[in-house]
Amino acid sequence: MSEYRVVQVSDLHLGAGHEHHYDNWRKVAAWIEREKPDVVVVNGDVVMEDPDIEADHAFARAQIGKLTVPCRYLPGNHDIGDNVLFGKMAQRVNDERRGRFLRHFGEERWAFEAGGWGFVGLNAQLFGSGGQSAEAEQWDWIEASLGRFSGRPIALFLHKPLFLDHPAEPDHDDLLLRQSCVDRASRTRLLELCRRHGVRLISCGHKHQSRAFSLDDIYHIWAPATACVNGPPDRLHWGVREVGFVDYRFRPDGFTHRFVGADFLFRHENYMRKHDASGGEG
Ligand SMILES: [Fe+2]
Ligand SMILES: [Fe+2]
Repeated sequence: MSEYRVVQVSDLHLGAGHEHHYDNWRKVAAWIEREKPDVVVVNGDVVMEDPDIEADHAFARAQIGKLTVPCRYLPGNHDIGDNVLFGKMAQRVNDERRGRFLRHFGEERWAFEAGGWGFVGLNAQLFGSGGQSAEAEQWDWIEASLGRFSGRPIALFLHKPLFLDHPAEPDHDDLLLRQSCVDRASRTRLLELCRRHGVRLISCGHKHQSRAFSLDDIYHIWAPATACVNGPPDRLHWGVREVGFVDYRFRPDGFTHRFVGADFLFRHENYMRKHDASGGEG
């Protein structure tokens, strides 16, 4: 069986009327059109910053929609609001914000089979929702989708990392750290499902850093942002402080990945652009 090629782009942060980050997206889009992967996973934070600016959603959708390669979309905190119990932004996820994303991008989660693998994409913003029915519905869907692909390798995509240092780490008191990853209760439940159903890869974005490691037979990959790096260089980082995207090739017996773009995209320094603004990290 031939390999199935997935390009994962994350944290595009595009806004109507903003040249910031759009310069990089044009280069990424040209690269994708040249390489023609089988699918592009758009891993959230497509809009600049404020999830309630309708024009930014329309702009991002129009730009990504120029690609001739099929795209699968997942929302990030800047697209539909931050996690209710563990977020940091003023705007938190709700049905109205999810509805806006669905209107523009048509989906917030998906599952499909290709190249001998099961591919499952989740809405990470629904974890720790404080009891929203959409969260319970998604848990049922996750279990059914992973169960559907049980017996073959599964790749899982979501916007936020499951943890920063280790799955056993507690929920952080510091707001910036806490909003950086999935809360402990949801992470524990999700990892248990992943182990039960044979998930081999968990791939995320959100931290605007590239990172790859394996732990307990699961490979974890943090996609860098196409847009910018966050936070000044002297702040604690877990991965590499670079921009780019991920080029995956899946075969029935495994996969390879490489980070692309750090050598030809511009490394926008987000803290320089908004050093006197508050909030909006990640
Ligand atoms: Fe994010
Ligand atoms: Fe982001």
